[in-house]
Parts: sequence; C-alpha cells; structure tokens
Amino acid sequence: MDFAPIVHRGGENTPPATAAGSVASMRRLVTTDELTDEDLLGAYETHDRTPHPDRPWVLMNMVASLDGATAVEGTSGALGGAGDRRVFGVVRTVPDVIVVAAGTVRAEDYGPPRLGPAAMARRTARGQSPVPQLAVITRSAAIDPGSRLFGDGHRPIVITTEDAPTDAVSALATVADIERAGVGDVDLGAAMAMLARRGHLVALLEGGPSLNGQFVADGLVDELCLSVAPVLVAGASKRVAEGPAAAEGLGLALVHVLEHDDALFLRYARVTG
Ligand SMILES: NC(=O)c1ccc[n+]([C@@H]2O[C@H](COP(=O)([O-])OP(=O)(O)OC[C@H]3O[C@@H](n4cnc5c(N)ncnc54)[C@H](OP(=O)(O)O)[C@@H]3O)[C@@H](O)[C@H]2O)c1
Repeated sequence: MDFAPIVHRGGENTPPATAAGSVASMRRLVTTDELTDEDLLGAYETHDRTPHPDRPWVLMNMVASLDGATAVEGTSGALGGAGDRRVFGVVRTVPDVIVVAAGTVRAEDYGPPRLGPAAMARRTARGQSPVPQLAVITRSAAIDPGSRLFGDGHRPIVITTEDAPTDAVSALATVADIERAGVGDVDLGAAMAMLARRGHLVALLEGGPSLNGQFVADGLVDELCLSVAPVLVAGASKRVAEGPAAAEGLGLALVHVLEHDDALFLRYARVTG
C-alpha cells in the first residue's frame, strides 16, 4: 500500500481556519489519492523554515506506538515499518544538521547519515552539503571513538559541557569537532546558537525522549514529524518528550496527515509570521 494524504495544507504555516469567535469545524479525514516519491519529498521539503535570529529552525522527528511508547526492548526498531523508514529518510533530506542525544546514539548504534544520489543532488542544488552533519549531545563524552558513528569519513560535532571528562573528550577530538556549551548540562539554547554560527539553519532533532523534553521545556521546537505505529505495546517506555513539564504548552498547527499500511505520519509546525 502506498502513501496517501488524508489532509494536506500545502506546507503553509497556517492554523486551522476559524472565523473569529467560532468553533473550528469537526471533519472526518478521508484517504484520497496516492503520493509519488516526488510528492512525498515535496510534502516534507516544502515549508518556510526561516531560522530564528539566534538559532536554527528545529524539526523533531519521532515514532510512537498508538499507546505512546517510543521504544520496545530498548530500541525504536519494532515501531518503524516500511512507511516510517521511508519518511525517516525523506525527513533527513531536509536539515543542515541532525541533533541527537548520546543515549540514542548508544541504544540505536548510530552510524553516519547516508542519503541516496537523488537526495544528495537535491540538497546540493539547494546549496546544502550532500548529507547533513550529525551533532551529538553528551555530558559524559562516553562514546567509543571507534564506533560506527565516525565511519564514512563523517566528522560529527560532539557538543558537551565545560566540565566534561578530559580524557574522554580528548579521545573524541581525534574523530569529531568538539564544542562546549554550559556547565553540568549542555545549555541547549547556547548549543543551537553555536550551530547557527556554523551556518546550520535547519536542525533535525532525532531524540531521544529526555533530550526532546528539554527542547520542549526550553521552547526550542518549531516542527514535529510524528509517525504513529499501528500497534499497542504497553510497557514503561518513555513518551516522545520526557522530563520536567514546560512552563507553557507549545501549540503547533497541523500541516499534513499521511497514511501507509495503517501507520499515520503527522506533521505539525509552529505558526510563523
Ligand atoms: N521512537 C523514536 O523515534 C526514538 C527516537 C530516539 C530514541 N528512541 C529511544 O529512546 C531511548 C533513548 O532515549 P533516552 O531519553 O533514554 O536518552 P537520550 O535522550 O537519547 O540520551 C540521554 C543522554 O543524552 C545526553 N544528554 C541529554 N541531555 C543532555 C544535556 N542537556 N547535556 C548534556 N548531555 C545531555 C546524556 O548523555 P551522556 O550519558 O553521554 O552524558 C544523556 O545521558 C532509546 O530506547 C531509543 O531507542 C526512540
């Protein structure tokens, strides 16, 4: 079964249309036509992702089960079907940099980002690097310099703290660019500002939940791509964003809903302008 748009607002950052003082209408969303590969790329690439004056636009991408789990037996693999894998790849064509927490790098055995020739050509035509750079957030710097992450000649950024363990940071400096922001915890606002200074205008945040929670609490999320896997798993897995509650909820407007083999692919974005 192919991708079908259930609702699509053409990538505009527009909230649901409501007349002043009225209640938004209730609609049943109906599957219609199927999307080509080109349509699917357009559904994710076409958006006004104007960066903030001091930081990149931040797009968070996660998969969750119907009952909100983000991992089964320690990884997200069991939640991601063919549709999610395809959307994961398409979303990765968008950013300049992929931000990920060290816990997820270790749990999912992260490798360097890889894209197909067509995606790399599209990025190059837009003035981007052929593949996005990875930026890993860690306090401990406990990442094996010999791990897959540093393959393919990819040199990620490791963002750590001023007081991170010296020996571990020195070992990583041979295979990564080291950046420091904050003491005790990486200051995410300062880290995002550093990425902007490096010319990264769009950041894709790939988790995990504890890092996502800090981004939400700090008001640093502009867009969410959420894959909803058609499965109930129960268990004690974390939610998409975990940690202390945000002082204010972050409202996002629905951009599109796609469907593939009963999985839903939701895209929400901050209303701009
Ligand atoms: N469903 C999905 O789409 C999805 C996506 C991603 C991950 N996951 C799953 O989520 C789980 C991992 O998530 P998690 O929430 O347990 O951990 P996580 O957020 O991936 O990683 C936590 C680690 O990140 C580093 N970190 C986070 N915030 C930091 C800060 N402000 N300053 C410095 N370092 C910081 C620390 O690394 P150090 O320990 O190195 O100091 C911390 O221990 C795995 O099971 C993974 O499979 C699911």
